[in-house]
Amino acid sequence: MGQGYGFGKVILFGEHFVVHGIPSIASAISSKTTAVVEKKDTSGIEMHDERPEIPGYKKEKLEQQEDSDKKIMEACGINTDGTGVKITLAGDLIAASGVGASAASCAAIARAISEEFSLGFDDDKINQIAYEGEKGYHGSPSGIDNTAATYGGLIWFIKGDPNVMERMKTAKPLHIVMGNTGIVANTKAAVAGVAERKEKEPEKYSQIFEREKELVHEARKALEEGDVEKVGKLMDENHKLLQEIEVSSPELDMLVKLAKDNGALGAKMTGGGLGGYMYALAPDQETQEKIAKLMEDKGFQVIKANVGG
Ligand code: MEV
Repeated sequence: MGQGYGFGKVILFGEHFVVHGIPSIASAISSKTTAVVEKKDTSGIEMHDERPEIPGYKKEKLEQQEDSDKKIMEACGINTDGTGVKITLAGDLIAASGVGASAASCAAIARAISEEFSLGFDDDKINQIAYEGEKGYHGSPSGIDNTAATYGGLIWFIKGDPNVMERMKTAKPLHIVMGNTGIVANTKAAVAGVAERKEKEPEKYSQIFEREKELVHEARKALEEGDVEKVGKLMDENHKLLQEIEVSSPELDMLVKLAKDNGALGAKMTGGGLGGYMYALAPDQETQEKIAKLMEDKGFQVIKANVGG
């Protein structure tokens, strides 16, 4: 039996833009997906998905998950025609859109396979395999989700050849609340939509992309200096840019407004959008609790996390 794990994540700045080479900032959260892999006598991949979920997520993603599992096996060099594998997914990370659930599962499975088949893969190899697995869900992912899922911590990421990944520190830990719309979104479609519109409206999109690039650099500086007010303002602006490229949704905008009306320094959608999660930055733990409770009282699932530091 082999075991593995992968972290959930929150993209603080730069989702979608990162696919087109703009820097992005993400942090792992402490919630994880775990995987157990066991060889079995019969061929094929037998999946037991015991993760907690936002209703409908696993069913919606089943086909993409099957495609992803095959890609992971291939990247590991395992042929399941003869000896198959049984995979059991679990852990405290909710399977939902926007929190890196697919990437966390890919990293967890890759680690568990490495252990079960005594392959001795290091983190760089696990990350590479998780990236191949992510293609089953995202088509052409930037690589930020699997990188955060594999290595953990706070990272500055630029897609490229090779990708740039730098570890970051913040002057103070950030008190954040992630609020889930309850909507299972299709990241592949969201990413494809941005690419299509960017092609159709090059002038509008190049202006938005230029501003996002500056904004992410400003955000890094503000995070490193502990200027949380500035971080909040940049989050608000980043959310507007994401609205302009049409990846937000009325439910995300509503949760963003709810957080802002109740003391958040800033709030924005996070991840693929069109549903999934938003996150809010609270000035202190008390406000973090207050915002989380308000969302929970309205029936939204929330994650409270302290990132950076
Ligand atoms: C999804 O968590 C983040 C996106 O930027 C896609 C990607 O980077 O692959 C929307």
